[in-house]
Amino acid sequence: MNSTNNGLQDKFDLSRIGQMSSVTEPRSCKFEVVKPFGPFIAVIEMPKEILIALTKMTDEILANPHKQSYGESLAGVIEQEYKIFKSDFVMSGVNEFLESAISRYVIKSAKSNVNLTGDIKITSGITDAWIVSQHENEYNPMHNHAGCEISSVLYIKVPNVKGRRGIKSKASQPDSDGNIQFVYNSASERNGNILEKGAFEFEPYPGSMLIFPSYLLHSVYPFIGEGERRSIAFNAGYEITKEENGKSKYIAGNRSGIKVLTHYQNV
Ligand SMILES: [Fe+2]
Repeated sequence: MNSTNNGLQDKFDLSRIGQMSSVTEPRSCKFEVVKPFGPFIAVIEMPKEILIALTKMTDEILANPHKQSYGESLAGVIEQEYKIFKSDFVMSGVNEFLESAISRYVIKSAKSNVNLTGDIKITSGITDAWIVSQHENEYNPMHNHAGCEISSVLYIKVPNVKGRRGIKSKASQPDSDGNIQFVYNSASERNGNILEKGAFEFEPYPGSMLIFPSYLLHSVYPFIGEGERRSIAFNAGYEITKEENGKSKYIAGNRSGIKVLTHYQNV
């Protein structure tokens, strides 16, 4: 090997460099723009039958006089937040869809970030779930979800809340009422930066669903006027291991397994 050019001579004919001066565009060379950092967010549109089943399920829970509040454990400045049990998802016929969505998110994320060759075992599972029935002036302050790895939100009912405030000086600005906003970093949100985005705002619609890392900060903006903005949120855990020489080797996820909350499993 020629030690004076760090091996370049092996790949390129350096004597041709002088003849390449007419090449002014990088179209003919390998040119990739990669994005190797940052969290994965799944944006999903639920099948119509899943949305119908979840609407019926949440209607029944909200109408149940024995429904259990989950508000004490949640950040929302919202009056109606109620526990969902695994049996609710199972009996509504949506449990398989929801568990599969988490599993697919884990597998797609894992394929980008870890070596999945060999005898790989990937497990995931929902750990707890709840209904958020949000009304006028209620909101969710900036928060993230502890005790889990993954979180998800599914939108059941979304009233048309845009333009209700009618502030003349803001007429040309985006209307965030009722939107969910994720913040990953703030440095890239200045000066219309196109090289990196540190925040992601999503305008929900019935049937839309997001899956994201549970550490990701997010908030929900309030709205004014009539209507119920109804969503389902749940947390999940995952674990990836590799079977090697009769032993289970840790690859990613929660080292102590998936922590399903006791109340979620109880009927
Ligand atoms: Fe949240």
